[in-house]
Amino acid sequence: MRLEDKVALITGAGTGIGEAIAHKFAREGARLWLNGLPGDPVEEVAAALRAGGGEAEAFPGDVSEEARARACVEAALRRFGRLDVLVNNAGIFIAHAETDAYRLEDFDRTLRHNVRTAFLMTKFALPHLRQTRGNIIFTGSEAGCNGSPMFTPYGGSKGFLHAFMKGVALEQARYGVRANCVCPGPIDTAWTRGTEGPIPLTAQEHIGAGVPLGRRGTPEEMANIFAFLASDEASYVTGALWLADGGVTPAKDNSGELVPEDLRRPPAGALPLRHSHDGLRGKEVYRAGK
Ligand SMILES: NC(=O)c1ccc[n+]([C@@H]2O[C@H](COP(=O)([O-])OP(=O)(O)OC[C@H]3O[C@@H](n4cnc5c(N)ncnc54)[C@H](O)[C@@H]3O)[C@@H](O)[C@H]2O)c1
Repeated sequence: MRLEDKVALITGAGTGIGEAIAHKFAREGARLWLNGLPGDPVEEVAAALRAGGGEAEAFPGDVSEEARARACVEAALRRFGRLDVLVNNAGIFIAHAETDAYRLEDFDRTLRHNVRTAFLMTKFALPHLRQTRGNIIFTGSEAGCNGSPMFTPYGGSKGFLHAFMKGVALEQARYGVRANCVCPGPIDTAWTRGTEGPIPLTAQEHIGAGVPLGRRGTPEEMANIFAFLASDEASYVTGALWLADGGVTPAKDNSGELVPEDLRRPPAGALPLRHSHDGLRGKEVYRAGK
């Protein structure tokens, strides 16, 4: 098991990619401290992991608030006595509008939940990660490399994380702390499928066309990469942006349409995920135009 006895704190762990990371890390032997917003099914994820023999505790709270972020890290330390891995995965994707129609309140919310969360958690976790020569993994996005029409501030928030991660990696290398960033393309969560997300249903039908592999990625396919980066197998990897976008970044056209139907089927996966599409439940989402 690649994460045996390591203690990992995962934000946004109640749903989507975060839920998958929690299950994957548990299978690799990690002890888990799971954070999500109040109302996220983070306790259910922790209970499912405990039922499977794992060690996992839930700590609900909005970690864009300084006091909650600090308390989240401190409570993990009290419970487990150490911290080896921080996964800055929490984020929101709550608006679909051209930039001039993008509401200021949505811009502010996006920065608060995508950027401030990661800064605060990194700030409070670093002293403990230095003790264990641990590591941090951010969830970035191909949108942070390429930009994204109709959600330009979201792409910008992820671009911030990419540069922030690199700075942290360079700064903390002298203490043996690594930092890396996984950059997903369109993943099969509430953000890209269903009626609760900001992407109109007609546009959702065409997502695969822009992906050379012809389909959305699965949360588990992302979790596999997090598990590697968190482990000692990745001991020489730091400051890295790990694209996991089905080829979106170098794509030049809608070549996903050329992928035959049978190759567009995602792998079955091994994790018993229950909340892949619950991430936007209860969140206000704004759409303007197509
Ligand atoms: N789904 C995609 O297509 C995609 C693509 C690229 C990157 N990502 C990134 O993956 C990560 C997970 O997204 P997902 O698709 O699994 O969506 P999701 O909505 O299922 O997961 C995000 C979770 O973060 C939680 N969260 C948000 N703000 C928080 C805060 N302040 N404190 C605590 N928890 C908070 C949410 O409630 C939610 O449970 C995000 O960082 C996102 O930017 C997703």
